[in-house]
Amino acid sequence: MKNKFLLFTLTTLLYATNMVAGNISDTIVSTKHNQQLTIGDLAEIQPGLGSIMREFGHRFYIAYYAAKAKNWELAKYQIDELLEAQEIAEITRPKYAKQLKSFEDNSIKKLLSTIEAPNLNPKCNF
Ligand code: HEM
Repeated sequence: MKNKFLLFTLTTLLYATNMVAGNISDTIVSTKHNQQLTIGDLAEIQPGLGSIMREFGHRFYIAYYAAKAKNWELAKYQIDELLEAQEIAEITRPKYAKQLKSFEDNSIKKLLSTIEAPNLNPKCNF
């Protein structure tokens, strides 16, 4: 959620800057270490699917063992965070957005409802 808000604020600011400055990717911003970067540089370093998939794998693995230990809170946290990472991937790699959303709707949501109601799902045997 925080990520989304930050992205929205940045995008709004950038559009406003662009109206005055011209090509948005050439707009220069300063980091807290006073390094000058262009918006193009920042776009270039956003995580692609490769990095996000590594996060997927890591979080899924933790969620699996958390569920095995019946630590539902941790399992849910990992899957929620995985979905946050997915939202970033939908923005940075829009060509995969449809498949990612379908994975969320058809698989992850079912998994989450099982995790959220472990006592109601005695057949859940990870
Ligand atoms: C829990 C589910 C998933 C897990 C654990 C997973 C895991 C992984 C891993 C470990 C990699 C290799 C990353 C690397 O080291 O470079 C990978 C690559 C990839 N995955 Fe997934 N994945 C999952 C779901 C999906 C879904 C739903 C999509 C649909 C778009 C997808 C698309 C891809 C693509 C396109 C790559 C190649 C990325 C690249 O190197 O550019 N994956 N995945």
